[in-house]
Amino acid sequence: MTSTSSSAIPTELPAPQGQHREPLVAAMFNRIAPTYDCLNDVISFGMHRVWKRQAVKALHLKAGQTVLDVCTGTGDLLAYLAPAVGPSGKLIGVDVSADMLAVAQKRFGTVATLHHASALALPLASASVDAAMVSFGLRNVDDVPQAISEMARTLKPGGIMVSLDTTPDPWLPGYWWYFDTIMPLVGRFMSGDVGAYQYLSESSKRFAPPSQLALWFEESGLENVCAKRLAFGSVALIVGQKPAL
Ligand SMILES: C[S@@+](CC[C@H](N)C(=O)[O-])C[C@H]1O[C@@H](n2cnc3c(N)ncnc32)[C@H](O)[C@@H]1O
Repeated sequence: MTSTSSSAIPTELPAPQGQHREPLVAAMFNRIAPTYDCLNDVISFGMHRVWKRQAVKALHLKAGQTVLDVCTGTGDLLAYLAPAVGPSGKLIGVDVSADMLAVAQKRFGTVATLHHASALALPLASASVDAAMVSFGLRNVDDVPQAISEMARTLKPGGIMVSLDTTPDPWLPGYWWYFDTIMPLVGRFMSGDVGAYQYLSESSKRFAPPSQLALWFEESGLENVCAKRLAFGSVALIVGQKPAL
């Protein structure tokens, strides 16, 4: 995938609903792929690991199951999903950034099946996975309800789906100051990319609140939908289940 100049990206992203920014988003993640994991630890003070563990728990995975990770990136979440499904389970990752996927490929080899594809048109059969998850991914896609409905389509009856992401309305004082000033500086210093960590703030501010995500989960046919906020409301877990037959 080709890269675009970093200065062209940040303030124009993320896409207001209905616009097609996927190639720009993919190019941006291509640029930061080599430093993504390390920076994630630094800017979240390692907390993303705690949230990911909590999110994976909500999937109630069993050994031997097939689990889908949408917007898998470097496959960081797959590392938490793998022990839950065990060696007889199947891990599937999907992402639009070839360079993020290349890191995942190095990490997992043949243990995970990785698809270079969009969350808006998953290259998977309907009712083919036991559980589906997306972490810090939905806020990047051009059409969030479409991505949610694609994930729900791939779920087997009774399967659980979880989204873990930032929220636009945290309760933590100083949160946006940190996002708008410190994070872009650290991001720039570590990744050399001017725009990517400014984009993180912008995409979080424009993202749908948990109540809206929960509504989209329900509209995609899921039941028992609940939204839970973590980290002073700055991160939310949305959980839903496809009705059993
Ligand atoms: C912030 S990273 C999250 C990576 C990983 N899930 C994690 O939690 O560390 C967002 C990922 O979403 C991917 N992405 C953005 N838009 C996408 C789309 N429309 N379809 C699939 N992947 C997408 C990006 O390429 C990037 O790897």
